[in-house]
Amino acid sequence: MERLDKVISGSGRLSRKECRSYVKQKRITVDGEIATSVDMKVDKDRSEIKIDGDLVLTRRRMVAILNKPSGYVTSTEDPRDKTVMALIPEEYRYLELFPVGRLDKETEGLLVMTNDGELAHRLIAPKNGVRKVYFARFEGNLVPEDVDAFREGLTLKDGQVCLPAEICSYNDGCLILIREGKYHQVRRMMASRGMKVTYLERVMEGDLSLANLERGGFRVLTAEEEKLLFSEEKPYV
Ligand code: URA
Repeated sequence: MERLDKVISGSGRLSRKECRSYVKQKRITVDGEIATSVDMKVDKDRSEIKIDGDLVLTRRRMVAILNKPSGYVTSTEDPRDKTVMALIPEEYRYLELFPVGRLDKETEGLLVMTNDGELAHRLIAPKNGVRKVYFARFEGNLVPEDVDAFREGLTLKDGQVCLPAEICSYNDGCLILIREGKYHQVRRMMASRGMKVTYLERVMEGDLSLANLERGGFRVLTAEEEKLLFSEEKPYV
């Protein structure tokens, strides 16, 4: 935590002296509340500081989620297609967020975006086994033998072996829980059991869900929500 005036002057927006007079004039807010003193402590990675309603670009580290629509590729640039970067609101572009892991162009749902390489690594590393839950619609039949095969660890058509996973029927499709992220993993797991995915959506990562985030929406996570990415308290499937 650092002093408000230090963080603002560090951003180049105001000198410390100007900061003092802006605070007196109630022109600065911190997380939506009017700042009352220049020496109040703020978290430059997380606090939302605004001067006259404009965001001060102080944040260095950020974790956010997107509700990815179909049709966007998960990369920072692409010569042909629009990328998930187009879904980041203008005011956050300077933070150089990147997607953690990958959803196929047609896959929808929860995608973590961050500029924290260490967090990205922790989320992806198979040894951490962070669970991802998908909802899929598919052609074919899901039978009890498929559930057992998922639990035992499927062998894909190219011989790759998957870690134990879960699958169960849900509404007009099924839920699949995996703890790794091989290329086209869910589609290939389903295909190895004779099912063809026709719709795929990631609905959870760790204990974090999309909650009320609309399709195409972007939201910065709170520190509490970040923790949900790594917690495993509630069994979902
Ligand atoms: N598995 C897939 O097949 N596709 C995705 O986008 C994510 C998981």
